[in-house]
Amino acid sequence: MANLYDGKMAAIYDAMYQSFVNYDEEYAFYNNLIQENKSSSTLEIGSGTGNLAKRFAENNQNYQGLDYSDDMIAIAKERNKNCSFIQGDMRDFKLDKPVDSILITGRSTSYLITNDDVNRTFESIYKNLNENGVLIFDFIDANRFIPFTKENPSIIHEAEFQNINYKRESHWDTNNSLENFMLEWTAQYYTIINGEKEVIENDFSTVRVFTLNEIQLFLYLNNFEIIKTIDRKTYAYDTYVIVAKKIA
Ligand SMILES: C[S@@+](CC[C@H](N)C(=O)[O-])C[C@H]1O[C@@H](n2cnc3c(N)ncnc32)[C@H](O)[C@@H]1O
Repeated sequence: MANLYDGKMAAIYDAMYQSFVNYDEEYAFYNNLIQENKSSSTLEIGSGTGNLAKRFAENNQNYQGLDYSDDMIAIAKERNKNCSFIQGDMRDFKLDKPVDSILITGRSTSYLITNDDVNRTFESIYKNLNENGVLIFDFIDANRFIPFTKENPSIIHEAEFQNINYKRESHWDTNNSLENFMLEWTAQYYTIINGEKEVIENDFSTVRVFTLNEIQLFLYLNNFEIIKTIDRKTYAYDTYVIVAKKIA
């Protein structure tokens, strides 16, 4: 599990991602898919610091968030006083009542690094969806991401938030011997103050990217039927978004 989302990194994440990600657009995109499927209750997995939650709450929608990190949930709760957030693991969770749609946003599927992680997650989601419920999620496309990291072993993302300029320098170790197209991701977060580099944190995590075929097979094995596949460029990486219906 990434330590990126714990302690002070949760606050840095929040600051940086608000300038990477256009959450109004992100909300409009996912809400459109939810409405197309006539969903009236939604669980967002990997709800993070509650930026999408805020938009769901502003529109008085039936929304709850689930995240593994207490520190991310603390920020989400501060931002959304009337929203419900559950601390839990997407690989094994149980809601009080099933919902019509479950979202996994912001490429949080990258943290499902073994096949068992993926199968357990889809199985849990299946159990927590109403009949005809939909699962909507994104994932980083291995076929485009792996060549990209080979050509760009070091990637710098810059973000300005509240007049502070943050940088994140990422290194991807495309060590081909790792199982399941897992990648070791080292990221250094820093600011430049008076021309001097000030390191905020060094983060190390293992993440996984997927091919579309793998995801199709995982869904098939877990009794989901794909109803839409969207090729979507997100802030830095090429992703696919899948809408899949629970099969009885
Ligand atoms: C890249 S962030 C995305 C957050 C948010 N969706 C956004 O777009 O800003 C990934 C989130 O997934 C959460 N996460 C990682 N593994 C998880 C797991 N097994 N169960 C639930 N949440 C998890 C992390 O704590 C983090 O908040």
